[in-house]
Amino acid sequence: MSLSEKIGQMTQVSNDSLTPSDVAEFHIGSVLSGGDGNPSPNTPGAWRDLVRGFAEAAAGTKLAIPLLYGVDAVHGNSNVRGATIFPHNIGLGAAGDSELVRRIGEATALEMAATGINWTFAPAVSVAEDIRWGRTFESFGRDTHHVATLAAALVSGLSGDSNTGVRVLSCPKHFLGDGSTTWGSVDRKPWMQWWDGWGESWMMDQGDSTLPYEDLITRHLPPFRSAIDAGALSVMASYSSWKGDKLHGHVELLTGLLKGEQGFSGFVVSDWMGVDQLSPDYSEAVTMSINAGVDMVMVPFEFRRFIAIMHDAVADGSISMDRIDDAVTRILGAKLWVADWRRDPDELPLSTVGADRHRELAAEAARRSAVLLSGATVLPISTSDPILVGGQAADDIGLQCGGWTVGWQGSAGATTPGTTLWEALRKVPNLDAVYEPTGDTGTSERYRIGIVCVAEDPYAEGPGDCAVPSLRPGDVEVFQRMRERCDVLVSIVYSGRPLVIPEVVADSDAVVAAWLPGSEATELPSLLFGSAQFEGTLPQPWPTSAEQLSRQVGPADRTTTDSAP
Ligand code: BGC
Ligand code: BGC
Repeated sequence: MSLSEKIGQMTQVSNDSLTPSDVAEFHIGSVLSGGDGNPSPNTPGAWRDLVRGFAEAAAGTKLAIPLLYGVDAVHGNSNVRGATIFPHNIGLGAAGDSELVRRIGEATALEMAATGINWTFAPAVSVAEDIRWGRTFESFGRDTHHVATLAAALVSGLSGDSNTGVRVLSCPKHFLGDGSTTWGSVDRKPWMQWWDGWGESWMMDQGDSTLPYEDLITRHLPPFRSAIDAGALSVMASYSSWKGDKLHGHVELLTGLLKGEQGFSGFVVSDWMGVDQLSPDYSEAVTMSINAGVDMVMVPFEFRRFIAIMHDAVADGSISMDRIDDAVTRILGAKLWVADWRRDPDELPLSTVGADRHRELAAEAARRSAVLLSGATVLPISTSDPILVGGQAADDIGLQCGGWTVGWQGSAGATTPGTTLWEALRKVPNLDAVYEPTGDTGTSERYRIGIVCVAEDPYAEGPGDCAVPSLRPGDVEVFQRMRERCDVLVSIVYSGRPLVIPEVVADSDAVVAAWLPGSEATELPSLLFGSAQFEGTLPQPWPTSAEQLSRQVGPADRTTTDSAP
């Protein structure tokens, strides 16, 4: 391979910043769609065409090295409108069943393969030690061992088996200690305009972890170990720092620990503009990160500048040819592994995306994720009493799915097809239920039973960092209106983490934490009416007050004593 071909393999570009002919001309190794990198229209067919355009360009080059197309398929192939959206990881952590998680990985791989995508930046194997973090929902929970077990299960599902004949490359992230950063520790680099306009966001996401080395290793390394043992061949570096040093430039942790001590033979990919944060001098930043052990750079925009800098760095000896060869060997190894089982996307019907059997699996997962926080004695409720259903979230797929759904931050509204709680309730035979999103029926009529669905607003990453995680504006009032009108009130909470809602917990007759259940709420009613039992357990301690939040930071064993609502 020529130097240009090698450097090209180490380059990953956002789909909106290059054309297929750039892929061929610069030997680009990987293209990604970020959280908002969707084709228009956002349909499975348009995704397949988008990916195929780039993949064919790579296949048409002299070496014909297959392209890796990466996305954040973090709860299903979740950028794609119409894909099955599974519960976010916090819900799967509550369900706690490896086999369920493995099947979800397999279904996700199939829906990805049908759109031609062969790499997901998943699973997040973060151990979230502070629920104020905006990525808490991407974590299976606070217990290291539990996270490690489920991480391996997801990797193994994504890696497929000979039955499905479909595999995608997984990417445990973010290495290392992303879930242990300190509130208020984010160092917003002045040369990164990226953060401008985000106000109070990024309070701990991308921040600094001050854990002693022992704790960093015992609490945060095992999920990577188990994901790698399950076959993961790429790992994403964390935006965060350890004791003031950015992971993207951390030679001891990336090269010494991960590749050396742990023997990781796959490749390390940087995060979105993560390299840029190392230095205001981009050449210096690139050299630092490649020499620290980053093998592929998620540039993601100005790839020509990145490639030119790489050539200069090799020419002046600041990056050795050995380092380049090592990086490319690792990338090609992972590509060979994927290509080994590569099915032509055309062999899989587009209807694989959002297939009924996947939606059934998502419905099962949502049901099994739900945790009954209080009120075991009032459940099950009877289907023969008139029921008042309230809360916008009861009939809003966007709120049900949360961030990283169709868009980076997610959003309320009918963002993608699925079944809302209200739609699921309407399918319960003979149920006498009315739905009033505001909880205000306009009459003084009382109801024997009320079901109110309240939610956090969707978010992802730093915009989700929040000093006191709570309900979206107006939902407490909806709850209060429902409380006045209903004898028995069951509250269903959609959220990416435990919330500080002591009034809702205290004044409800029963409270269900349903996390971010995804596109299929179909089986949630069965928990209320008693045809199914609650199985979920809390993956994070549930706070009773705002003051408790800063005290409830740290490993699972130190905090769970505090957790009863
Ligand atoms: C996130 C990663 C993600 C990447 C690509 C970053 O902002 O930190 O988790 O994989 O974007 O969308
Ligand atoms: C990407 C994220 C990225 C963000 C920042 C989104 O479109 O998906 O990965 O961090 O943009 O601009």
